[in-house]
Amino acid sequence: MKIKSAEFTMSNSEVAKCPKDRLPEYAFIGRSNVGKSSLINMLVDQKNLAKTSGRPGKTQLINHFLINKNWFLVDLPGYGYARVSKKAKKTFQKFITDYFEKRKQLVLAFVLIDCRHEPQPIDMEFMQYLGESAIPFNIIFTKADKLKPGALERNLASYEQKMLETWEEMPQYFITSSSKYIGRDELLDYVENVNDE
Ligand code: GTP
Ligand code: MG
Repeated sequence: MKIKSAEFTMSNSEVAKCPKDRLPEYAFIGRSNVGKSSLINMLVDQKNLAKTSGRPGKTQLINHFLINKNWFLVDLPGYGYARVSKKAKKTFQKFITDYFEKRKQLVLAFVLIDCRHEPQPIDMEFMQYLGESAIPFNIIFTKADKLKPGALERNLASYEQKMLETWEEMPQYFITSSSKYIGRDELLDYVENVNDE
């Protein structure tokens, strides 16, 4: 898919205030600092459409970006990190779970996982939650530029093994690097196909 236009629409902390359009949307979720906002910038080929930072906790709201005037990319706050309280650290913010449970326009979620890390309980829990809530999701392994191909392959194999302890099959996954523009065409083509279904 070619990106002809990408524009920021609005930020919200309440799902009820999100855009009223019936356009399909795709949400990016994952631990803070995993690279959600950077991935959106890579997909739209703009440096700063979504705000990024080296410090975790940059994205704090539900952000809608209108793509080609007919679908949305949604940037969400990360989980697993909170400057505010220890309690919020372990749980998923209510407005995020509200978003997943109430947003009818959501077609599917992309769960981002840093390809360098061992499987983390919080990601497993979040995918479990999506599964129990019958929300379709795919995995995106991010920051692929940080690993040599052999190490990447080994990490993915052990990730898959861990997933198969609780899932019947490994969800469809993508490998990306926002700094090296890896995985861009695959992801955009995938979304295009889903939009056409
Ligand atoms: P929060 O909004 O805090 O939840 O973080 P986020 O998941 O949106 O991460 P963000 O896109 O802000 O990126 C976090 C840091 O990782 C930034 O310093 C980015 O430059 C860096 N980063 C993101 N993607 C990549 C990548 O593919 N490769 C490399 N090397 N660094 C990346
Ligand atoms: Mg962000």
